[in-house]
Formats: sequence, structure tokens, C-alpha cells
Amino acid sequence: MRVIVQPNSEGVSLCAAKVVANLVRDKPTCVLGLATGTSPLGLYQELIRMHHDEGLDFSRVRTFNLDEYVGLGPNDEQSYRYFMQKNLFDHINIDVRNTHVPDGRALNLSTYGEQYEKLINDAGGIDLQILGIGSDGHIAFNEPGSSLGSRTRLKTLASETVRDNARFFGSEDRVPRLSITMGVGSILESRRCLLVAMGPSKARAIRDTIEGPVTAQVTASALQLHRDVLCVVDEEAARLLERRDYYREVERAQTLLQEGRLSELGVSPQPNDQ
Ligand code: GLP
Repeated sequence: MRVIVQPNSEGVSLCAAKVVANLVRDKPTCVLGLATGTSPLGLYQELIRMHHDEGLDFSRVRTFNLDEYVGLGPNDEQSYRYFMQKNLFDHINIDVRNTHVPDGRALNLSTYGEQYEKLINDAGGIDLQILGIGSDGHIAFNEPGSSLGSRTRLKTLASETVRDNARFFGSEDRVPRLSITMGVGSILESRRCLLVAMGPSKARAIRDTIEGPVTAQVTASALQLHRDVLCVVDEEAARLLERRDYYREVERAQTLLQEGRLSELGVSPQPNDQ
């Protein structure tokens, strides 16, 4: 896992947006996996800015969202489809037919997950999956105890998540108890994952994800098994990481390598390298 610690949440959003924008430029037909919640909001705002100011082109990009509340339709202001429209899709040149959010009102819930995954496969799989993290360490709605091999399916929300998300619904009893969510196993099939986290309420989850054991009790920890994960976190979310200095060292070395400043890394060119 590559870990980048930014001074604040704005730094996280700008850094993560660059990663997404580079992919969109390099592969205009890319498939993005999208997340909802407060964490990716700044990243979406930056993508919107890049679309307006720099012509970042989403016309051939396809997207798949991680999850949706069961029972909520696209016009429900709390639905994740509504969130995506208001916070990203309505402001960029994406073709809405290329955007997918699980259908919270699908009646065939037992087979719906398979259908959703077929759509992802038919699109060639997800190139980059954007992820937030719940305070209990969940990704998408894969609550603690979710199988690390789980697929897209129906999932009951944990009480901690209901509490966390009550702020959007006004009260806890208004929060739907069920979701359709991509599974941990489905997420691990993405070619690359980009996890963003900010604020003190995420510090424990981030420590457990990056430095704890791989466990179904912290489903984000399964990302340790993935070959290409980038975690961008702010100082507050990184507060409990023990190897923070090492992550900074890795980033410094990375920068020096990119800039060709090899001597600063203790590498001196040999005569036969010329
Ligand atoms: C929900 C979503 C997750 C998200 C999490 C954290 O549970 N299903 O995808 O990562 O909330 O949300 P926030 O970024 O608002 O803290």
C-alpha cells in the first residue's frame, strides 16, 4: 500500500483528484468506481473544476458506484444516485447512460448483485476504484464481519454506520437499514484502488486498515491484499499510524526518483552507465 499524508483535507482532495484526472487523460474510455459520502466530495469538486478550467473530458468515461440504500429511488435526496447527480454528474460532460449506481428499488434483490457485476465485467472491469472509509473500517457497505470474498449483495447496516449517517437523514430512525453493496471481493478486482480519508473520526479505522492485521472485522484491511492501492489521508486521519515517518520517506524517494535526483538517494552513476 502506498500512503500519502497531506496536511489537510483540501490537500487530500487535490492529490486524489490528480490521480483520477491522470487516468481520465491517459485512458479517456476508463471505467471509474465511485464512492459517496463526505470524503470524496472535495475530490469531485476538483474534478468539476478541472473539467471547466482545463477541459478534462468525461464524455467517454464509464462509472459504477459502490452502493445504494435499499428502498430509495433516484429522486430521493438521500439516495446515492441523487448524491452523484448533484455532486458530480450534473456538472461534467459525462453521458448519464454511462453512469451506474445500484438500483435501491430493484425487486429482484437476490439476483441483482450478479446483474450489476455482469455490467461491470462487460465494461471491462474497473480501472480505478475510489473509496471512502466508515469509522468502523468498512468500505462501501461491507460492515465488520463481511466476508473478504463477498460479492455485490444485500447488506444490513451496522448500528455505528446508522449513527454516522443519521446526520444526512435528520434522525437515526430515518436511515434505511439495508443496502445493496459491492462486496469486498468485487472491490479487490478493480485494477487500482484509491482510498481517501480525513478527520480525527477516521484515525482508528485508518490505522487498522494500513497497519493492522487483515481481518473481516475491518473490511478495508483487505486492501492490503491488493497489488495497487493508494491511500491519501490528512494529518488527523494519519494520527495513529506508527510508520508515518517511513511513508514520508517513501514519498520523498519517489519524488527524487521522478526528478532524476539519484545522487540524493545515494546512487552515483557508474562510468559504463553513460
Ligand atoms: C457510507 C458509504 C461508504 C463511505 C462511508 C463514509 O457508509 N457507504 O462508501 O465511505 O459512508 O462516509 P463519509 O465519507 O461521509 O465519512
